[in-house]
Amino acid sequence: MFIFVILGLLVCIEAQGPIAVTPVFVKKGDDLILNVDADVPEDFVLVDWKFNKTVNMVIFIPGKESTISPDFTGRLEFPVKKFSVKLKNLQKADSGVYTARVLTILGDQPLAEYKVTVEDPVSPVKLTVDPVDPLDPLDPLVSRSSCNLTVTCSTQDSHISSTIRCVNQTCSQEGGEQSEVTTSGASLWVYLLNSSIICNHSNHVSWTNDVIMIGDFCPKYPGSESPSAGISVYLVKIVVFSVGLVIMVSAVITVHLMEKLKKHK
Ligand SMILES: *[C@@H]1O[C@H](CO)[C@@H](O)[C@H](O)[C@H]1NC(C)=O
Ligand SMILES: *[C@@H]1O[C@H](CO)[C@@H](O)[C@H](O)[C@H]1NC(C)=O
Repeated sequence: MFIFVILGLLVCIEAQGPIAVTPVFVKKGDDLILNVDADVPEDFVLVDWKFNKTVNMVIFIPGKESTISPDFTGRLEFPVKKFSVKLKNLQKADSGVYTARVLTILGDQPLAEYKVTVEDPVSPVKLTVDPVDPLDPLDPLVSRSSCNLTVTCSTQDSHISSTIRCVNQTCSQEGGEQSEVTTSGASLWVYLLNSSIICNHSNHVSWTNDVIMIGDFCPKYPGSESPSAGISVYLVKIVVFSVGLVIMVSAVITVHLMEKLKKHK
């Protein structure tokens, strides 16, 4: 009879099966709390945490102080929650699987499992613009209604270029790449939002971006600093050129007159 009860309990424990693995992404240098949410039987023999299934981290034995393994000395703290641990200052090498289990006289049983990935924060990005058809101030067609831009978004180790075309003040992304996954596993993407072009660089733990205003590069676009800048430069050039011409002509006439006057003397 007793044997059957024990067998029954074992079946119950086994039937609980594998527990859910919780994926966690942590920024390098941050701390991580590994929680035990499952119920721990009152009469447990020990509870422990292991890294990558084999490396001991800490053991809890009833009525005794917790024992931290030498590999983790100085790196663990114990939050209020029972059997939970706080791992401090995570580095890339701390990526892996963290498991807690409870051992009773009936065998062991998983309590918690985390798949931890430690990532570096992403590097800054820079958007640069290459107007495909820069406006020539002497081109009388400054009033044309379209504008093409090639934008390039660069990070330390990669870059993407995208073409943006604005017609009648409506812009769209026409060609090139819109997004890319970088060698470090982060994503880089360029998109339009209202009158801005934005480049975003992000991974699971951080993001950076750079923004430019379309109006700074496309005249006649809402937000342009001066929609008629092209025309005024054109006018200034004409005025300067005309004044120069007048001075030159006057000089020639003056010299001519002076010579004539000299001859008359
Ligand atoms: C832990 O396991 C992960 C894979 O789950 C592996 O990438 C990592 O190198 C292992 N770390 C150590 C220190 O064994
Ligand atoms: C963009 O335009 C939408 C409406 O079209 C507006 O709700 C939103 O605030 C604008 N965003 C920015 C950043 O100007």
